[in-house]
Amino acid sequence: MKVAVIGPGALGCLFAARMARSGTKVTLIDHRKERAERLEQQGITVESAGEVLTAHPSVSLHVPTGMDFILVLTKAYATEALRFPPEVPVLTLQNGLGNVETLCSLVGSARVLAGTTSEACTQLDVGLVRHTAAGLTRFGGWTSCDPTVAGQCLRAAGFEVALTDSPGQIIWEKTAVCAAINPLTALMDVPNGKLLELVEVRQLMRDLVVEAAKVAAAEGYRFDHSLVEVAEQTCADTSENISSMLQDIRASRPTEIDAISGEILHRAQLASLPTPRTRVIHQLVKGLENR
Ligand code: PAF
Repeated sequence: MKVAVIGPGALGCLFAARMARSGTKVTLIDHRKERAERLEQQGITVESAGEVLTAHPSVSLHVPTGMDFILVLTKAYATEALRFPPEVPVLTLQNGLGNVETLCSLVGSARVLAGTTSEACTQLDVGLVRHTAAGLTRFGGWTSCDPTVAGQCLRAAGFEVALTDSPGQIIWEKTAVCAAINPLTALMDVPNGKLLELVEVRQLMRDLVVEAAKVAAAEGYRFDHSLVEVAEQTCADTSENISSMLQDIRASRPTEIDAISGEILHRAQLASLPTPRTRVIHQLVKGLENR
């Protein structure tokens, strides 16, 4: 099995290392030459509950041909610039809304697999990752792409995988959770679990999830379980984790706020739904980014 993983961030390194260790021929794609050379030389190290896993996948600036599938784990704002060889299935597990639509415009919907992962990890340095919590990875074909091979490969690498017929639903669920946890942890500069301890912030987290769920409903996505409970459970399960948005703010990188709260705002506007808290949170994180 040959797989390309695009994006050498925390999740990209975790997925690349685990697949490489399970016997998959992994090529990690990094568009930054110097960092790619460093990754090629030193490999990837994942610290996980006292264990240390090392792997030496190939590293390349471009996706090679002959892959069985391509896993996209770049930041949402980088999706548009990606380029893919023909015919290979492309699996996105990225945060936020809009990645799938962008990939469909690049490769055609029949090649797109889409979903989310609840694996939580923190990037400590280039190629050095702390895996803070295991979680479910769920995905399915956006239209007609068969998810079986990608599912088998990720399971063989030790990931808990569930295939779904409704990837759009899964992406909305994760986005509603991210729209609450990620900006609030970034603004408060706290790990995920702390949000549950601060009464006012916990209430704001709930309100943000409810606003997002209303916009999802306007797009036809209804949930038979409480997304507020999912968000709170995620905080508890990943209590030690520094959210990806807080990691970005601390490293002075752009965040994914536009793909998360910004997309919710945009879609709320189309549906004439008020989302006042999401608007303020979006404005505050943009302010933090531009400080
Ligand atoms: O983006 C992230 O950091 C994670 O997906 C999660 C679990 C929402 C927060 O750490």
